Amino acid sequence: MTLLILGGTGTLGRQIVRKALEDGFQVRCIVRNKKTANFLREWGAELVYGDLTLPESLPLSFQGVTAVIDASTTRPEDDAKILDVDWYGKLMLIEMAKQVKIKRFIFFSIVNAAAYSVISLMHQKASIEKVLANSGVPYTIFQCAGFYQALINQYAIPILEGKTVWQTSERTPISYIDTQDAASFCLKSLSLSETQNKSFFLGGAQAWGSGEIISLCERLCGQKAQIKSISIPFLNLLRQLTGFFEWTYKISERLAFVQLLQDDQDFLKSTQENAKVFKIQPNDLLSLESYLREYFEMMLVTLENLDVDSQKKQKDLLL
Ligand SMILES: NC(=O)c1ccc[n+]([C@@H]2O[C@H](COP(=O)([O-])OP(=O)(O)OC[C@H]3O[C@@H](n4cnc5c(N)ncnc54)[C@H](OP(=O)(O)O)[C@@H]3O)[C@@H](O)[C@H]2O)c1
Repeated sequence: MTLLILGGTGTLGRQIVRKALEDGFQVRCIVRNKKTANFLREWGAELVYGDLTLPESLPLSFQGVTAVIDASTTRPEDDAKILDVDWYGKLMLIEMAKQVKIKRFIFFSIVNAAAYSVISLMHQKASIEKVLANSGVPYTIFQCAGFYQALINQYAIPILEGKTVWQTSERTPISYIDTQDAASFCLKSLSLSETQNKSFFLGGAQAWGSGEIISLCERLCGQKAQIKSISIPFLNLLRQLTGFFEWTYKISERLAFVQLLQDDQDFLKSTQENAKVFKIQPNDLLSLESYLREYFEMMLVTLENLDVDSQKKQKDLLL
C-alpha cells in the first residue's frame, strides 16, 4: 500500500511519516523543498516535489497511490495565502484523488470549524470537509483542537525564559493530543472500514484550561510564570477589529482556539467513543503531564550542561 502524505515536514506530518514507515507502508511525500525535507528520505520515504499553491505540480505524485493523508496547512510565517493552500490546493488534491480512485483520503481539520466561518482558515477547513464528503472519494476527517507540541512555544519556553504567558480569564478547557498519538489514530483508520466516510474529534484523555497548563509548567520546571490575563470578549473584539484569524498566530495559537470551543464541548465523550472504534484506550494516550515532564527534564539538563560549559570556559580564560 503506497501512502501519499502532504505536510510530512510538519509537526504532525513527520510523526505520520515515521509511524507509517515503521508499520511497513510505502510512503511518498509531496514536499516544497527537498533539501529541508531530506530527513524524511533518510527515514525511508520517497520525496516528490509539489506545492499546493502550484496545482500543476501535484498530479504526477498520485501515480500508484492507494491513500492520501493530508496534514498540510498554510504556515503562519509564509507569504502564501490561506485561500491558495487550504482551499484551491485542497480542491486539486480531492480532484486528483477522485480521478485515480484513491481508497481513502484522510484530512485534518479543526474542531468547530463550521461554526466559525468568519475566520478564514476555519472557513476553508469547513468548506473542504463538505467538498470531501460530497466528492465520492472514501474519506476520514480528524478534527483537532491542538497538539501538545504547540504548548512548548506558548507556555514552556516563555516560562523558562521569564517572559510573559497569556492566560484566558474564563476557564475554557481544551483537549490537546500528542502528535504521535494523533498519527496512530490516523494510520489505524486505514484498516478500519467503520472509519470510512466519518469525522472524528481527535483529543487527549483530559481537557486543560490555560491556568492549569501554566501551573503544571511552573510545578515541573520550578519557576514562576509572568502571567497576563486576557478576556474572551476582548479577544472577540480584537478579532472583529482585525477581521483576520492570522493575527492570533502572532499572539498565541491557543488564544484563537479558545474562541472555537463551545462551553458544552464534551471532549471526554468523544475520546471514549474513539476508544471503542479505534481500540485505543484513553489510558494508552500520552498525558500532557508526562509530555511536559519529559520536555522540562531534557531542557533543565541541557541548561545545566550549558552552565557548566560556560563556567569551565571562564575558568580556562583565567588560567
Ligand atoms: N497545530 C495545531 O495545534 C493544530 C490544531 C488543529 C488542527 N491542526 C491541523 O493539523 C494539520 C497539521 O498541523 P501542523 O501543526 O502539524 O502543521 P505545521 O507544522 O504548520 O506544518 C504544515 C505543513 O504543511 C506544509 N505546507 C505548507 N504550505 C504548503 C504548500 N504550499 N504546499 C505543500 N505543502 C505545504 C508544510 O511544508 P513546509 O515544511 O515546506 O513548510 C508543512 O509540512 C493541519 O491540517 C492543521 O490545520 C493543527
